[in-house]
Amino acid sequence: MCGIVGYVGLARKTKSVLYEGLKRLEYRGYDSAGICYIDGNKNTVIKSEGKLENLNAKLNKIEINSPIGIGHTRWATHGKPSELNAHPHSTGPISVVHNGIVENFYELKNELEQKGAKFYSDTDTEVISQLIFYFINDGKSFEDSVIATFDKIQGSYAVAVLNADEPDKIIATRRFSPLVIAKNDDELFLASDIPAILPYSNEIIFLEDNDFAVLKKNSIEFYDNKKNKVERKSKKINWDPVMIEKAGYRHYMLKEIHEQPRAVFDTIRGRFSDDFETVIFNDFDENLIKDVSRISITACGTSYHASLIGKYMLESISRINTQVELASEFKYREPVLDSNSLVIAVSQSGETADTSEALLEAKKSGVKTLGITNVELSKISRESDFVINTKAGPEIGVASTKAFTTQVVVFYMLSIYLGLVRKVIDKKAAKKLIKDAVAVSKIIQKSLKLDDEIKELSKDFYSYKNFIYLGRGINYPIALEGALKLKEISYIHAEGYAAGEMKHGPIALIDENMPVVFIAPDDEIYYKKLLANFEEIKARGGRIIFITSSSGSLEILGEGDRKIQIPKCSNLLSPLITAIPVQFLAYHIANRLGTDIDQPRNLAKVVTVE
Ligand code: M6R
Repeated sequence: MCGIVGYVGLARKTKSVLYEGLKRLEYRGYDSAGICYIDGNKNTVIKSEGKLENLNAKLNKIEINSPIGIGHTRWATHGKPSELNAHPHSTGPISVVHNGIVENFYELKNELEQKGAKFYSDTDTEVISQLIFYFINDGKSFEDSVIATFDKIQGSYAVAVLNADEPDKIIATRRFSPLVIAKNDDELFLASDIPAILPYSNEIIFLEDNDFAVLKKNSIEFYDNKKNKVERKSKKINWDPVMIEKAGYRHYMLKEIHEQPRAVFDTIRGRFSDDFETVIFNDFDENLIKDVSRISITACGTSYHASLIGKYMLESISRINTQVELASEFKYREPVLDSNSLVIAVSQSGETADTSEALLEAKKSGVKTLGITNVELSKISRESDFVINTKAGPEIGVASTKAFTTQVVVFYMLSIYLGLVRKVIDKKAAKKLIKDAVAVSKIIQKSLKLDDEIKELSKDFYSYKNFIYLGRGINYPIALEGALKLKEISYIHAEGYAAGEMKHGPIALIDENMPVVFIAPDDEIYYKKLLANFEEIKARGGRIIFITSSSGSLEILGEGDRKIQIPKCSNLLSPLITAIPVQFLAYHIANRLGTDIDQPRNLAKVVTVE
């Protein structure tokens, strides 16, 4: 999400190495950016909110003759996106850029404030510069101050530090967040991601957890957190930059499917109270939301499918009458909205024209609005009264995957929140639901193991021209989503149906040329009914892929049929698990067909036209 670059050397202009490096990290998404360089004995920081172009406009106006600097693109976690909260953060001569989260930020901030420190930003990062400065004032060397600081810090980080009083060095350290160094004679480059610095050198050094590196123009030293010297050798990297951006995955889509445990975890992180009894949405005004008696959700494509799942959750957990409508329809239908309605606009990009227009239309009725988006400064975030951000990180593949699962998990949290506010569930019930959510990332992780199995299975299915996906209840939207995924990246015709609807018409399509994908988690109500639907399809010669968490034997499966075993999970969260095999199935079929998976024909990642 955030990106770091650094440079020390005389061979190039620091300004352009930093700016070009940040530009190569642009694909990750960001909301602000900044650089710091040392001129003489002064650390100068230049920052800008919004697009990198805004920073560039400032940089274009100045000459920088410094041989050393650090830069950062920020994806806000603590503190809203703003110039003040953008990195680098400075305390006296110390300037810091940071990726990750300081988990004990509040305690450290309190401690420092009691000792007289004055904080200017809302970020967790500022405690790092404050702490380093505190230790220096306490008489420690620059190196010892950095080590002492990270001895106190809990969480994940990749950090680069400048000290205007020792202007020849950058100190870098990491834990759970990547940081790499590229070297040439007489110059060193630092970055959170290889693509940022690969054009300068393919001799790359990977920092290990708890390493401290001291970078000077023509030397580099590594220490562990006890200040013992350690050796880190460089590796020659022969990947092309595009490949590296995909972290070794062939496509962004596959990378993003695999990122889902992390994305879901990041989305729920910090949103439950320590006792797991309540959901925390800081942005909400409980008084404004408690009288909501009706919810209208509007969205497009995959976000619409996530919203259909949201309806099940909202009605089941918080017992609020909920409707979901395609945004392109909502706007022109003159929907009836009253003062107790809440309109929710759901969008990964936050910029989809249909959805933002629907939101603006709803606002005309004076209703309260909530945006659920993955991009903090997006139009929908700006226009909504309340916002809940998904933390999927930048989604590059046109086919949405990780944004979808994070939207689903937001609906789950929202349902618990509203259930508690409306007093239709008590804290005990909330706790049970919250504990299930906390456990779900690990279950998603387990289902990612299906990747190879589904790759193999796709060999038998990629040449079919049509597919049907069937599901029931909360997994009916997964049938729709599975069909959409297959359509958009493989160009194979696919339809999703509620399984009970087959007998009312679509069953006429079934023959040996029609594979049918069943989404059949082992639940109390629907599983048995799906088995009956299964028999109906089998009797008509259809070929079946049966996705289930039931471990029971399925005698009825014929020779050409396949069972995909998924891990068990609570019924309400099961779409997070059933989504994984349908994403893999679409991906591997498309991959065998050789389509342009990340940028399928005719499609755009963000649809800004109506
Ligand atoms: O950015 P949004 O979530 O508003 O985008 C909505 C749809 O355009 C999007 O979900 C589209 O259907 C995807 N290509 C689905 O994979």
